[in-house]
Amino acid sequence: MILVTSAYGNQGHLLLPKLVAAGLHVRASVQSEESAERVRALGASEVILGNIADPEVLTRAVDGVGAIYHVGPTAHPLEREIGFAIVDEARKQGVQHFVFSSVLHAITTDLVQHEIKRDVEEHLLSSGLEFTILQPSNYMLPLKLRPVFEEGVFQLSWALGRRQSLVDLGDVTDVAAKVLIEGERHYAATYELVSEGRYTAYDLGRIISGVLGHDIAVEEIDGDTYLRAFFGPELDDGGFSHQIKVFRAITARYSSHDFIGNPNVLRWLLGLEPTTFEQFVRDQYRQFVQATGRT
Ligand SMILES: NC(=O)c1ccc[n+]([C@@H]2O[C@H](COP(=O)([O-])OP(=O)(O)OC[C@H]3O[C@@H](n4cnc5c(N)ncnc54)[C@H](OP(=O)(O)O)[C@@H]3O)[C@@H](O)[C@H]2O)c1
Repeated sequence: MILVTSAYGNQGHLLLPKLVAAGLHVRASVQSEESAERVRALGASEVILGNIADPEVLTRAVDGVGAIYHVGPTAHPLEREIGFAIVDEARKQGVQHFVFSSVLHAITTDLVQHEIKRDVEEHLLSSGLEFTILQPSNYMLPLKLRPVFEEGVFQLSWALGRRQSLVDLGDVTDVAAKVLIEGERHYAATYELVSEGRYTAYDLGRIISGVLGHDIAVEEIDGDTYLRAFFGPELDDGGFSHQIKVFRAITARYSSHDFIGNPNVLRWLLGLEPTTFEQFVRDQYRQFVQATGRT
């Protein structure tokens, strides 16, 4: 049995069917009924429904599994505590293989969510568990393309001239599945997962325009506008101080530095060329046209 945390997230919903297709039994951790149903539909044999930050839920989640794929939920205020606790519980219960989804350049500690992952990596390294650490670059996210297809505007909340390396989550979850299926071959490994290319927002805009066959606008929006769009009106009710810190640090860091990596490790793991941003946009646009009939 493999425990997958954040199981209906950006990675989880792609990873689950790959593990199930390989004949593995998956225990999925989610916190809403809605996602519980969805992970069951994707083939999860067991579902742990509840807040993984709750020690009782976490203990039940880890109980009896042979391997764990741990993804910290996006900008969760207790991401570090959850990471430490799941490593400790895995050690206590003798889990064979702990695979941690971290981030490219986790040592960049002025990014809040990187510093947390750096700490979790260190905790895992010191635990004595057999581990594999995956370090994906910025995700190619469908969410970021939807407004482009609908309104013709590509928005980022950092300086548009800064360069970024990206990675496709189909590739990331292919690697995650490979590592979990092959196990021992990947013990004690840390893999940077990065697609080809170093793109400014203008480069990304040109690629999207090429796929759509018409020009789109590229705009910088301030971090707080992005935050409001991400979290909705609840942002103003308070209680989001951690998330605000995370997103403001992203804007500051990505506006003052490039965030780039190298695709060699991903190419080797996949045994083929990583998915490019252009391929990702083409695929997403095809799905958008199919779903909406719009071009
Ligand atoms: N975005 C990027 O470009 C990027 C790049 C590199 C690394 N990362 C890192 O990747 C991680 C996020 O990965 P992701 O986007 O695949 O995950 P995600 O989409 O944030 O995960 C959402 C899933 O986590 C579940 N969840 C949230 N809080 C929970 C809780 N307290 N207890 C139990 N389940 C909970 C949700 O359950 P429900 O559906 O039931 O609510 C949902 O299934 C973050 O740590 C982020 O820093 C992100």
